[in-house]
Amino acid sequence: MKIVMLGAPGAGKGTQAKMIVEKYGIPQISTGDIFRANIKNGTELGKKAKTYMDQGALVPDELVVDLVVDRLSQDDCKNGYVLDGFPRTIPQAEALTAALAAQGEKLDYAIDVEVPDENIVNRMSGRRACVNCGGTYHIVFNPTKVEGICDACGGKLILRDDDKPETVQHRLSVYHAQTQPLIDYYKAEGILKAVDGTKNMADVFADITAILGE
Ligand code: AP5
Ligand code: MG
Repeated sequence: MKIVMLGAPGAGKGTQAKMIVEKYGIPQISTGDIFRANIKNGTELGKKAKTYMDQGALVPDELVVDLVVDRLSQDDCKNGYVLDGFPRTIPQAEALTAALAAQGEKLDYAIDVEVPDENIVNRMSGRRACVNCGGTYHIVFNPTKVEGICDACGGKLILRDDDKPETVQHRLSVYHAQTQPLIDYYKAEGILKAVDGTKNMADVFADITAILGE
């Protein structure tokens, strides 16, 4: 099962992708997580990506596409995957379609998690991310057992640099200009499914499993 998660920053793509991983046993491939891991490890890619990410801009397509295509060729992707944060532009989507077609493959579902802009800024200011494992929480909607400490690994929780309200506004406008057109792209491919992302996390996931099957 090959799935793409679509949706604005903070719509819950990562949250739902993790639940898909647990239920369906396919890997989550999050370009945002890959870049953040590279930043943490001080790699050349991380240094380049950081300048764009801190401003809420997109990392250039040429730094993203080969990275993802290479990742999809790894063994754990044989039975499918859930892409979270990629593709994010029409050229990225076209490159993915072409790379899959070269292997005689195609995507099965593009799931659009719909959340209006006015809900997003609140969600982001309450999000906390683990510096160690990247786990994501929310101070109101998904709190940790001990404040400031990751349930999964005991790491310290922080507010992501790009989750400050002024950067979130910019990420939203970048989303509308560059990523939202993918909704029509995948509609035309006949694989678009929309879910209401304003429901609670479990109810959103129930709607997703109704699409993917038990
Ligand atoms: P990325 O990490 O992908 O960020 P994003 O798309 O902005 O999305 P987020 O991770 O912020 O949100 P999400 O939808 O995953 O929401 P989450 O589940 O965490 O990308 C970061 C940057 O990297 C980009 O700006 C860009 O610079 C670069 N980049 C990445 N990929 C790229 C690409 N392909 N091309 C170019 N550049 C790229 O949920 C948000 C919060 O809400 C959490 O606190 C969560 O607990 C809470 N929450 C989730 N669901 C619910 C719910 N149903 N109800 C209440 N709260 C909820
Ligand atoms: Mg995410």
